[in-house]
Amino acid sequence: SKPGNQNQRNPNHLQPRASSFKVAVLGAAGGIGQPLALLIKMSPLVSALHLYDIANVKGVAADLSHCNTPSKVLDFTGPAELADSLKDVDVVVIPAGVPRKPGMTRDDLFNINANIVKTLVEAVADHAPEAFIHIISNPVNSTVPIAAEVLKAKGVYDPKKLFGVTTLDVVRANTFVAQKKNLKLIDVDVPVIGGHAGITILPLLSKTRPPVSFTDEEVEQLTVRIQNAGTEVVEAKAGAGSATLSMAYAAARFVESSLRALDGDGDVYECAFVQSELTELPFFASRIKLGRKGVEAVISTDLQNLTDYEAKALEALKPELKASIEKGISFAQKQK
Ligand code: NAD
Ligand code: LMR
Repeated sequence: SKPGNQNQRNPNHLQPRASSFKVAVLGAAGGIGQPLALLIKMSPLVSALHLYDIANVKGVAADLSHCNTPSKVLDFTGPAELADSLKDVDVVVIPAGVPRKPGMTRDDLFNINANIVKTLVEAVADHAPEAFIHIISNPVNSTVPIAAEVLKAKGVYDPKKLFGVTTLDVVRANTFVAQKKNLKLIDVDVPVIGGHAGITILPLLSKTRPPVSFTDEEVEQLTVRIQNAGTEVVEAKAGAGSATLSMAYAAARFVESSLRALDGDGDVYECAFVQSELTELPFFASRIKLGRKGVEAVISTDLQNLTDYEAKALEALKPELKASIEKGISFAQKQK
């Protein structure tokens, strides 16, 4: 089937629907967690929103629970309440962990966030083994392989249901391309492949829809801006953290797409960092088709007929991405 536009919204989306899905956010009191919880609270597809954090989540839940949208909001604080926060949930979103400060790479977060992700995914394996798992915590290129190893060790790994969230890269690419080319934003859709750090983020500008032509200079400028957009925000926030609001927007879009897929919509496409056979790397971000069981198809056509620039950038990113994946796997295996 022809891969659809990630921005396309099924017209059914506007019809009243049963609100029946449960979503858990782990790290819900954080910079991403709070606005993400608000956006998920607005979804007509959600019946229960479970907010988990190690602190400060009671107030966030009390506050949100006053919004007159259908979902019930429940709060869970600390490891003793983690299992309950995961009971019967369909989607678990994990933005728990420390963010960057100026001068840091995402990999500098590894030592702290690897353990946080490992602990949380162990609980997901025990208490919500069927759920879709959305990993936001950085470095995504390593935390997703860690999550996979944890799930494997617990005997519940379903590669179709584990996602590194790279939606923000697509959101940024769409925004920057629309600005540069003066296009209507809603129509612009740029696939972004590879991983989620520096040069591993590869926007395929030649595959932009609707078709747009770029000069070599524009390709270089846009690619570099998209790759450094996270750092752009880290520097602007000057020590106060990294992207939270645009990230919440992007994560909410990925949650909504997942829920539409779980609800049976047949045309749900997003980019995500998943287990993949598209390249020789075991994990790779690309466009995927989402269905009730998770990844229904990996869209391989995006990697055909790349421009010389894209083909070179793809080869150049592989060693770094491979090393980050292996770092995650060996961390998880050492912990066994
Ligand atoms: P933040 O510090 O504002 O919030 C993190 C939250 O995680 C805090 O509320 C903290 O209490 C909680 N937390 C810490 N340890 C926990 C644990 N063991 N269990 C549950 N909760 C725990 O940080 P933020 O700005 O929300 O960023 C969170 C993470 O998301 C960072 O690692 C950041 O790099 C990453 N991020 C990823 C993307 C992406 O595109 N994938 C984009 C932006 C940020
Ligand atoms: C982003 O892309 O904004 C996030 O990965 C956060 C960061 O550290 O840049």
